[in-house]
Amino acid sequence: MSAGLSRRRRLDPGDWEIVLDALPLAESGRIDPRTWFQNPDRPFELEIGSGKGTFLVQQARQQLETNFLGAEWAAAYAHHSADRARRHGLENVRMLLGNAVEFITHWCPDGIVNVLHLYFSDPWPKKRHHKRRVVQDESLAQFHRVLRSGGELRIVTDHEDLWAWYEEHADRNTAIFQQCQYVSPSSADEEEFVGTNYERKFRIEGRPFHAMTLKKVGG
Ligand SMILES: C[S@@+](CC[C@H](N)C(=O)[O-])C[C@H]1O[C@@H](n2cnc3c(N)ncnc32)[C@H](O)[C@@H]1O
Repeated sequence: MSAGLSRRRRLDPGDWEIVLDALPLAESGRIDPRTWFQNPDRPFELEIGSGKGTFLVQQARQQLETNFLGAEWAAAYAHHSADRARRHGLENVRMLLGNAVEFITHWCPDGIVNVLHLYFSDPWPKKRHHKRRVVQDESLAQFHRVLRSGGELRIVTDHEDLWAWYEEHADRNTAIFQQCQYVSPSSADEEEFVGTNYERKFRIEGRPFHAMTLKKVGG
C-alpha cells in the first residue's frame, strides 16, 4: 500500500486489535471471532484487507447493531485502524492483524459470517503472482463455508484484469455462489461504490470501477 500514515501521534490499538500469530494454533480447534466483541450474538461482517479502516469505521458507526472485524496483514495499517476504532469508542469493531484468508481457512467456524467485504484488493498483475490474489477457487470454497445461509461476498475493484479474474471465478463457482446486483453500503457517498481510501484516491485519477455481490447458494 502506498498511501502514507502520519507518525506524529503514538498509536494505541488497545483491546481493538487481535494478533493472529498470538492465537492458539489452528490444530487445537476453531476460534469464534464473534467472542471478541461485547455483544457476540449480533450479525457479524468481515472485511479482508481493510487498509486504513475507512470503510470499517464509517459503516460500523452507522450499523451499531452489527459487529465488524477488519483483517489486515500490514501491521502499521492494522494498528492505525484499531486505534481509529478505539478513539471512536466503537465496541462493534475489532481488527485482526494477520492473513485474512489463513484465518478464515484454518480458524473460522462454519456459517457465522453475514457479509464478507473485499474492496480494492491487491491485483498482483504478473501472471506468476496470480496465486497471491485473495480470490481463488480454494478461498471461495472457504468463504462459502464461513458464510451463513444467504450470506454475501461483496467485491469492488478498479483493476480490469482482476475484474476478469473475479468474473471467471464467479462463472466457475455457480454451484456455491449466485451473482447478484451490488448495492453500495449506507456509509458510501452518493457517487461512491463503497468509500474506501483507495476508491477515493482512484476516483480522483478518473479510474472506472467494477463491483459484484456473490450470494451463498445452499445452507
Ligand atoms: C490495495 S489495499 C486496499 C485497502 C482498502 N480495502 C481500500 O480500499 O482502501 C489492499 C490491502 O489489503 C491488505 N491485504 C492483502 N491481502 C491480505 C490478506 N490475505 N490478509 C490481510 N490483509 C491483506 C494489504 O496489506 C492492503 O492493506
